[in-house]
Amino acid sequence: MRSDLSGFYKKRIDERIDILRDVAGLDDDDILHFKTGGVTLDAADAMRENVVGLYSLPFSIATNFRINGKDYLVPMAGEEPSVVAAASKAAKMAREYGGFAASSTQPIMIGEINIADPDPESTTVIEAHKDDLLKFIDECIPSMKNRGGGARDVWAREYACGMGNRLIVYFSVDVRDAMGANVINKVAESLSALVCSLVGGRANANILTNLCLKRISKAKAYFTEDESIIEGVLNAQLFAENDIFRAVTHNKGIMNGISSLALATGNDTRAVEASAHGYAAYSSFYRPLTKYSMEDGKLLGEIEVPLSLGMIGGGTNHPVARIAIEKILRVENSQELCSVAASVGLAQNFSALRAITQEGISKGHMRLHSKTLALMAGATPEQAAKIYDYYKDRESEISFSNIKELLKHMRDEGR
Ligand code: MEV
Repeated sequence: MRSDLSGFYKKRIDERIDILRDVAGLDDDDILHFKTGGVTLDAADAMRENVVGLYSLPFSIATNFRINGKDYLVPMAGEEPSVVAAASKAAKMAREYGGFAASSTQPIMIGEINIADPDPESTTVIEAHKDDLLKFIDECIPSMKNRGGGARDVWAREYACGMGNRLIVYFSVDVRDAMGANVINKVAESLSALVCSLVGGRANANILTNLCLKRISKAKAYFTEDESIIEGVLNAQLFAENDIFRAVTHNKGIMNGISSLALATGNDTRAVEASAHGYAAYSSFYRPLTKYSMEDGKLLGEIEVPLSLGMIGGGTNHPVARIAIEKILRVENSQELCSVAASVGLAQNFSALRAITQEGISKGHMRLHSKTLALMAGATPEQAAKIYDYYKDRESEISFSNIKELLKHMRDEGR
């Protein structure tokens, strides 16, 4: 499957769906899910509490991604204009240099057990019983163990607080293709009684940490040899390294891509966001998750980000998410999915830095916004497309009242 679908963005929705039908092998049921959003009211009622309706968002495909020598069409869900176009454009530029090189560690998640008033020397006791604790964890999750996952490590630390002495027992588990929250929470809740029998005290909280420091993805790519872009991006990088206000926005742009992919694949976007920002601040200094340098006259971008994207269980059972994972992305395991996500985050960030240091972000953004405004003013999709074309190089004239006026003209002229 090739991901450089030339002119995909210029096509009508039905034409894009036809292309996907061919390249991704979609069937009529898949296409019906796309058109309806995939969830019925009854299904929604079973998913959450107090449901009164459904809430739909655009589901798009970012093109041009080539990662580790393989082409990917990247499903993205979200409301913000420009994001998909920006990711596709950066992927196209990276493609000229062979695309992204990405990797992800084993899918290891961490849980915590917080014990109030443990016996003295409890850290040493936990260390001495590490093998028993690891065995207990594996016995809690036999099917995970059978799939090649299971317990990996146990460690502990003590602290004193206003309410007395506390012990934290950390444990890590390879969760394979799951996001891992349910597995880790189940283990934490079972393990705490054993921990208390070893160190005394009372278990206060048994829970997963979303800071998945042992589940790290990296991606890198060359983007351009254009000196003006390189200078702008390197300056923007230094800006983010020296100013937390900028660093947060820089990372927000990265998450525009990663969270759109997370949402499209039914993953927990809040978990992914929390982990990324926690990692950015882990050195006690909030820093950008990407870095840029010059190599042989080319701009090299790199990203390192903890990602807990799963491809089985939970929200990934959403019918559209299943199509996204199995037929569009065609990833074989959660590590591959995370490597795609890291590449998308890097692409998104490069595009944002290029735009803000070159033409500014509003130009492309406003032009795409003109389509939304046109539809709000009652334009047909064909009229909205014409209005979008009309505003090329006239972005500063885009306003709701101007668009209503233009639409009136078009109707008067029978267009
Ligand atoms: C907008 O959603 C994201 C950006 O602000 C990111 C950035 O400034 O790097 C464009």
